[in-house]
Amino acid sequence: MEVVIVPDAKAGGELIAEAMAALLRRKPDALLGVATGSTPLPVYEALARKVRAGEVDASRARVCQLDEYVGLPAGHPESYRATVLREVVEPLGLPEASFMGPDGSAEDLPAACEGYDRALAEAGGVDLQLLGIGTDGHIGFNEPCSSLASRTRIKTLTQQTRVDNARFFDGDLEQVPHHVITQGIGTILDARHLVLLATGEGKAEAVAQTVEGPLSALVPASALQLHRHATVVVDEAAASKLKLADYFRHTYANKPSWQGL
Ligand code: F6R
Repeated sequence: MEVVIVPDAKAGGELIAEAMAALLRRKPDALLGVATGSTPLPVYEALARKVRAGEVDASRARVCQLDEYVGLPAGHPESYRATVLREVVEPLGLPEASFMGPDGSAEDLPAACEGYDRALAEAGGVDLQLLGIGTDGHIGFNEPCSSLASRTRIKTLTQQTRVDNARFFDGDLEQVPHHVITQGIGTILDARHLVLLATGEGKAEAVAQTVEGPLSALVPASALQLHRHATVVVDEAAASKLKLADYFRHTYANKPSWQGL
């Protein structure tokens, strides 16, 4: 695993946006897997800036979603479909057709889950999957004790995750759905390059468990240890519990291999 320690969230956003831009220069119709939540916003802002500045042509990029709430009415502003359209697809100037995600309002949810895994494979697979991490170590919405081989399916959110996400619903826990569709850990591991971004002290314990702890169903993000090309980008606060922080600084600072340096 490459662990890149950056000074702050903005620097992390810039670094990952440059990795996405480099990918798009190499493969203009790359399939970018995106995450929602607060952490990835600096990435999307930096990538949109690069597109506006003409540093990269993203017009053929394709975007796919990691997860979706179940049961929110269509068009709800906090549905992940609406969020990704607002935060990623529109700022990059992409057509809605360039975007794919699981349908959290489908009548047959298991069929929608299977269909989404199939659609990802038919699209040629995800080239770069951006991930955040929950304070409980989840990736996507694969909560602790998720199968490390899981595919896209319905999951129940932990109370901790619902509390963490209540800020997107006016702080009202009652409004946070209990169920989601999420790419499984096995689905996520199919992506060619995984890039996890974590910022802030609240993520430090989960990051340390992910990077230095044992592979464990209790920490779903530790499954990144199984991937051939996983990059973990952390700010100083999120890196504060890493025993090997100095080694990572020495080895990866400013020269993660995925930048081709
Ligand atoms: C969102 C997702 C989640 C978040 C995680 C961290 O699509 O899959 O795993 O990445 O809950 O959320 P933030 O960034 O808001 O702390």
